[in-house]
Amino acid sequence: MSSVFPRGFLWGCATSAYQIEGSPLADGAGPSIWQRFAHTPGMMADGATGDVACDHYRRFKDDVALMKRLGMQAYRFSLAWSRILPEGTGRVNQAGLDFYSRLIDECLANGIEPIATLYHWDMPAALDDRGGWLNRDSAQWFADYARVAFEDFDGRVTKWLTINEPWVIADRGYLLGTIAPGHRNLYEAPIVSHNLMRAHGAAVQAYRETGQHQIGIAVNIEPQYPASNQPDDVEATRRAAAYMNEQYMDPAMLGRYPPELKTIFNDAWVDWPDEDFELIKQPLDFVGINYYSRTVVRHDEDQCPLKTAAVKQSQATYTEVDWEVFPRGLLDTLTWVKARYGNIPIYITENGAAFFDPPAAEDGRVRDPLRTAYLQAHLKAVRQAIKAGIDVRGYMVWSLLDNLEWSLGFSKRFGIVHVNFDTLERTPKDSARYYSEVISSHGAVLDAPL
Ligand code: BGC
Repeated sequence: MSSVFPRGFLWGCATSAYQIEGSPLADGAGPSIWQRFAHTPGMMADGATGDVACDHYRRFKDDVALMKRLGMQAYRFSLAWSRILPEGTGRVNQAGLDFYSRLIDECLANGIEPIATLYHWDMPAALDDRGGWLNRDSAQWFADYARVAFEDFDGRVTKWLTINEPWVIADRGYLLGTIAPGHRNLYEAPIVSHNLMRAHGAAVQAYRETGQHQIGIAVNIEPQYPASNQPDDVEATRRAAAYMNEQYMDPAMLGRYPPELKTIFNDAWVDWPDEDFELIKQPLDFVGINYYSRTVVRHDEDQCPLKTAAVKQSQATYTEVDWEVFPRGLLDTLTWVKARYGNIPIYITENGAAFFDPPAAEDGRVRDPLRTAYLQAHLKAVRQAIKAGIDVRGYMVWSLLDNLEWSLGFSKRFGIVHVNFDTLERTPKDSARYYSEVISSHGAVLDAPL
C-alpha cells in the first residue's frame, strides 16, 4: 500500500507569519491589521498578541534545524506584506526582504523546500486605512507586492500560494468580525471576496511575466452533508457548499460564481463585469487544499444570510475548536475537486487538529494520541485519494508549532511541536515523532497500529 504515495510526494509542515514570528514591527516593518486588532482591547482571548508569539523571527534557524531533525521535506510559511512594504505600496523595506531571504536560504541549506504564501491574513494597516480589501485597487496593490517577492525569491522558492483561505477573510474578517479587520457587515463580504479573487488573479498574471516555477491558491474546503433528505435540508446544504467552497474555487477555476450566491446575499449581491472573471480565472499550476472538518447541515430560517445551521454529531469526536474529526471528508473533498474542476495537481496545504496539551512538557515528552490518530486517519484518506487516481502531490501538516490561534490566542494548540509559552521551549509531541516515521517510511508506517 505504501508505494501508493508517488515518488517525489512532498511531506512537510505549514505555519503563517503573524501566528509564529513575533517582533512584528522589527527592522522597519509597518503595522498590519493584526497588529491593530490584537492591540484593541476585547478582541483576543486572554489579551494575547503576536508581539512575541513563538519568536520564530529570531529563532528561525533553530526551527529549521528542528524541521530537519523531523525529516521535513518542505516548509510552507507566509511572507508578512508589511515587513516587505511597510506602507503596503511603494517603498520597499530591504530588511524585511532580508529576513525571508535568510529563512529561505536556511531551508535550502537544510534540504527543505520553501513554499511561500503571499497573504495569510495580515494586510498592512496603511492599506486598511485606504479601504483594505473593499477597495478595488487592492488587486493592484497585491500584484505589485507579489512582484517584489517574485523578483527576489523566485530563484529559490519554487512553489507559491497567492491567498490563504479567502473564505475566512471575508466571512470571519468582514461578516462576523471575529478576525481582523473585525467588520460585521453583510454588504461588505461579497465585495471583499471578489476583490480577494481579483487580487489572486492579478498576482498570478504578474507571476507569468517573470516566474519560472509554480503558483496556486490555498482554499479551505469543508464538505457539506445534509442532515436529512428533506428538500429544505438538501437545499440548505447546496447553499452552504456554494458559500463556503464554490464561492472561491468556481471563479478561480471556472470563471464564474455559483448561482446560489445571489439568493444568499440578496440585495447585498453585486453582478460583476465579465472582465473581472477574465482576470480571476488564470491557469494555475496546482491548487492548495486546507482541510480540517465537515459540516452536517439543516435548514434554519433564522440564520442570516445562509439560513442554515450545523448539526452536531453525537457519536463523533470533536477537537478543541469544536470541529468534528471526519477523515472521509478529506477523501470526499479531493474527489469533489477532481470531479468539478478536473485533474489539477493538488497539495494538501493544511490539515491538523487542536487537542488539549499541557502548558509544559513532562519529562521532555508530550503525549498527544488524539492528534496522532487524526494524522494517521487523514493521511490514509490522502492515500485512498491517490489510489483513486487523484493527483495529490504533497501534504503539509498544520502546524509545525503551537502558535497564536488568531483571536483564540494561545489557548488552542495545533502544533506537532509543543511550545511552552513561558519559556518558548520547543518539544516535539508524540504526533511529531509519528509524522517523522511516516515521512521516513514514505507512508508505510500508516498501516501499523498506533
Ligand atoms: C488557517 C490557520 C489556522 C488554522 C486553524 C486555517 O483556517 O489557515 O491560520 O490557524 O486554520 O484554525
